[in-house]
This record gives sequence, C-alpha cells and structure tokens, in this order.
Amino acid sequence: MKKRVAILISGGGSNMEALVRDMDERHPAEPVLVLANTANAGGLAKAAARGIPTAMVDHRPFKGDRSGFEAALTEELKKVAPDIICLAGFMRILTPEFIARWQGKMLNIHPSILPLFRGLHTHQRALEAGMAVHGCTVHEVTGELDGGPILGQAVIPVKDGDTPDDLATRLLPMEHKLYPAVLRRFAVSNREKVTLMVG
Ligand code: GAR
Repeated sequence: MKKRVAILISGGGSNMEALVRDMDERHPAEPVLVLANTANAGGLAKAAARGIPTAMVDHRPFKGDRSGFEAALTEELKKVAPDIICLAGFMRILTPEFIARWQGKMLNIHPSILPLFRGLHTHQRALEAGMAVHGCTVHEVTGELDGGPILGQAVIPVKDGDTPDDLATRLLPMEHKLYPAVLRRFAVSNREKVTLMVG
C-alpha cells in the first residue's frame, strides 16, 4: 500500500511540484492533497493541473485564533487521511497541539543548513554571517521551530558578490532534489540522512 502524502504550501509550490513529479507509479508514496493557506498560492493551480485534489484554508479569517485555523486544516486533512504531511514553503507557524497530532509523520524543507539560521531571511543572514557555504535542510517537524531531527541536507558554495536572490536561485534546484530524495526514504521508514553537494 502506498503511503498517502498531503503537501501544504503557501506560494509557488515548486517544491510541491518536485515531490509530485517524483511520485511515479513505482514510488512508495502518492500525493492525495495539496493544501494552501491562501488562494494566491500559485501551486494550487499547478497541483490541480496534475489532477491532484486541492484545498484552501485561508488563515486570515482566523486572525488571533490559531487553533481555529488548525481545526479547519485538520478537517481537510482528515478527509484524505494522510500518512505523511510535507510542508513545502508553508509559511504559517503551527501550534504544539497540531504538531503533536502529526508528530513522526510531518516533514519540512527549510532554506538553510540547520541548525544555522532558523526562521526567516535565511539567505540574507547566511551572507551577513560570511558563510562560505549555504544550503537547505529537510527535517521532521517537532514543537521546536525548524528544530526537528535532520533527515537530509544539500550544500552550495557562496560566491563573491552573491545577493540573497542569487543564493535563493541557486539553492532552489537543490531543494527540488533533496526533498524528493528524503521523501523516498521516509516513505519506507528509512531515516538515513541524505547529503547532496555541488562544487
Ligand atoms: C522554498 O525555498 C522553501 O525552502 C522555503 O520557501 C520556499 C518555497 O518555495 N521555505 C521556508 O522558508 C520555510 N520556512 P516553493 O513554494 O517554490 O516551494
């Protein structure tokens, strides 16, 4: 039986697409839902075009009511009974209660070499810190922000004159390799770390 994967997005959904593209008929998992927290998420149309069920739970009507927002998310997720949830550029902070419900089943991709640069503006902060390398991390989601067990990392060099946009542009293709590679392992309960590097 294939593992059922729900993918949560907030934006363009390029990581979602990379995950979906990799889930061919021989893959141990299949996408059952792409869920966004805003109707502006470009990834929703991309998922629908691939025939994947989509849902949208707008966070804005739930201002100040995080658990109300998450109850609505949970309703959508329960309908498809996912075995695995992939956060793929999902830009909402989740409560410990929501995370506890899915603990051990939820992955996230973060654009830094964790534990460095948790949170936002990771490319800018890597440059400010004078890093010679930058990268991305796929990790299990726990109650600690960007702090769960690391399942894989990809590393790129930082070049003289790089801007945050340069780093983002060069890192994204590595994200698209890393996340599917980790999911393939995770779907068969293999937590061996994936490492990817470019020279
Ligand atoms: C990706 O770079 C991802 O690592 C980052 O958002 C982008 C989403 O792009 N995630 C975070 O910053 C999470 N804190 P995408 O919508 O094209 O996949």
